[in-house]
Amino acid sequence: QTIRVFAPATVANVSCGFDVFGFAVHEPGDEVFLTLRNTPRVKILSIHGDKGLLSVDPEKNTAGVAAQAFLNAYAPDAGVDIELFKGLPIGSGLGSSAASAAAVLFGLNRLLGHPADGKALLEFGLQSEKSACGSAHGDNVIPSLLGGFILIRSYHPLDIRHLPIPEDLYCTLVFPQVEIETRKARELIPKSIPLETAVRQWGNTAGLAAGFCLSDYDLIARSMEDLIAEPVRATLIPQYHLVTKSAQDAGALGCGISGSGPTVFALSKGKETAQKVREAMRSVYEKSHVSYQTWVSPLN
Ligand code: HSE
Repeated sequence: QTIRVFAPATVANVSCGFDVFGFAVHEPGDEVFLTLRNTPRVKILSIHGDKGLLSVDPEKNTAGVAAQAFLNAYAPDAGVDIELFKGLPIGSGLGSSAASAAAVLFGLNRLLGHPADGKALLEFGLQSEKSACGSAHGDNVIPSLLGGFILIRSYHPLDIRHLPIPEDLYCTLVFPQVEIETRKARELIPKSIPLETAVRQWGNTAGLAAGFCLSDYDLIARSMEDLIAEPVRATLIPQYHLVTKSAQDAGALGCGISGSGPTVFALSKGKETAQKVREAMRSVYEKSHVSYQTWVSPLN
């Protein structure tokens, strides 16, 4: 029995919500084909679209690690063959490792008759993030599994909520093709934060959540400010300040770094504005001869 599963890219942090906000987009995403076997072995048959960067060794690949953990827990005598189609660039800040793991976990759960409840599935997702980059953050893998905009109020115990999404909200993504390792980008984050900075940051975090709940686009715009991760990570991203300024000038509500970057995301009210924003961001990279990919996607 074979199942085909798509899992979407995700924008983690959403500016001010380091490790606590994340949302899924419609594209790009990863796709897997899973076939159950009755010998206890996880096998990655092939990987497409990864430019040869990923290992087919299941112990060194997030899809394989997630599959093995799931089978150990629920079907130790079974195995699975995996074919992986990477629509997500690796090291792009779009939740590439999370999407592969999410697709495998969702698919295996389905194939085995739903032995894992929703919460258990999320815990497997967090563990696969830990194996991929050393930290069990959930702001990519949880929205990739569940869709929508996710608030992670607490990790221990895991307490998450879907936030309502304003009807006309669109996301523009621009990926300048440099690779950033999440593990390294996390090491840059300061370990202690002045109280004044923390106050501004949690004001923004609450403001962004309230903006989503109230469909208040102006409040969303005012809250899209990150004083903790963005200042240190922006230096890793080509033309970051120019690209975000051009997006704002073209009408974006706000912009930020998607996850640990280098993808830059912008939120806009309406598809037309999101497309204008895309053109503005694209032209910065055209002029500076940086290769890039772009997507525009509704949040709903
Ligand atoms: N919250 C995580 C980070 C997301 O910023 O490191 C990584 O994609």
